[in-house]
Amino acid sequence: MKNRKILLGITGGIAAYKSAHLCRLFVRDGADVRVVMSEAACEFITPLTMETLCGKPVPVKMFGRTAGPLEHIDLPDEAEIMVIAPATADYLARCAAGRACDLISSVTLAFTGPVLFAPAMNTNMWNNPATARNVLTLTEEHGWHIVQPSSGDLACGWTGPGRMAEPEEILDAARALFRRDLHGHRILVTAGPTAEDLDPVRFLSNRSTGRMGYAIAHAATRRGADVVLVSGPTALPCPTGVQRVDVRSALEMEQAVNEEVDGCDAVIMSAAVADYRPEQIMEHKIKKEQEGDSRVLQLVKNPDILAGLGARFAKKSRPVLVGFALETRNAIEAARTKLQRKGAHIIVANLAADGLGGDDTRATIIDDREKMFDTGPLTKIELAEKILDHVLEYWDRP
Ligand SMILES: Cc1cc2nc3c(=O)[nH]c(=O)nc-3n(C[C@H](O)[C@H](O)[C@H](O)COP(=O)(O)O)c2cc1C
Repeated sequence: MKNRKILLGITGGIAAYKSAHLCRLFVRDGADVRVVMSEAACEFITPLTMETLCGKPVPVKMFGRTAGPLEHIDLPDEAEIMVIAPATADYLARCAAGRACDLISSVTLAFTGPVLFAPAMNTNMWNNPATARNVLTLTEEHGWHIVQPSSGDLACGWTGPGRMAEPEEILDAARALFRRDLHGHRILVTAGPTAEDLDPVRFLSNRSTGRMGYAIAHAATRRGADVVLVSGPTALPCPTGVQRVDVRSALEMEQAVNEEVDGCDAVIMSAAVADYRPEQIMEHKIKKEQEGDSRVLQLVKNPDILAGLGARFAKKSRPVLVGFALETRNAIEAARTKLQRKGAHIIVANLAADGLGGDDTRATIIDDREKMFDTGPLTKIELAEKILDHVLEYWDRP
């Protein structure tokens, strides 16, 4: 990380003593480190210690000037990445709410680059639904990167999850944020459900949230790819730097994909595209008074977008086609069949119980070169990184 500009934020937890070691590791790696601390953090470790380690003044208070009056803007402006270790429950709550009530929260709010955070807290604080919601907001809406706390004996006497990751692990995760291994590649990602209209107010859809595809788009952009995201209806904000094309139905998604695919090195199709659509979209709202006690919906098959690309790019090495197989049983078998039938190169297989709508997911990545591996339980952003690693490796293999 030679000459990389890192802003290390320290908040008020017992694990703050480990931040001194983390700062040393960054400095030893050649990074140019600035430190900002919360007032609570100063109860656990002194700014003097951190100043000595990083060689620069360590601001703490919004109004007790250390360098200049605009520290809350200058500090984030100068940094390439921000690492918060430890991140307290309260700091996460402030950031998830977009607060700027103290220096460290203001600095974070004004920072536009990648943020990595290492939570540390008592097990019950970590398991509290409010904390879980804040972590989800920060990882999925704000695109922050988490170094998961580990399980073990905590300083408070409890045993369970909440212990801050070791500084060496945080260092590795920070190094990964500088990875630009997808630079020069164009990647098309599809995400979300499709909505198949029945009439002006009703539609058929599914429970996909789009979070998986958005995580892939986010991770690929951060790693330097030029990303176009074809998205069905979701409530998710578009990740920074991603070109999003909004669609509604499977037919619209097919058209958008076909228009965007030329020149792509990979197409990652995580959207849950409806297999069928109503044969007819009624011009006016269907009225039950006119329908009687039952109504038959006539459905017609939607095009299979992945299979269409498989046929169009058969025997070509680019784009690498990645499909998803979400099944309620026999996911691996179904994925293998899908690989062949659709002419895809890689399939990410998972069971609905392990992934759909949940916070964590677990998948098996299978490719047409007989490579297969089980990811184990991961957050969506972690799985996104694994899928991109697999695509990179696929490109590089003869
Ligand atoms: C001894 C002690 C240890 C604490 N350890 C933690 C901790 O590990 N994680 C946490 O979220 N809060 C911890 N707290 C509570 C925070 O210090 C408190 O919520 C504080 O307001 C956080 O402020 P900050 O987020 O600005 O640093 C601890 C408090 C005390 C007194």
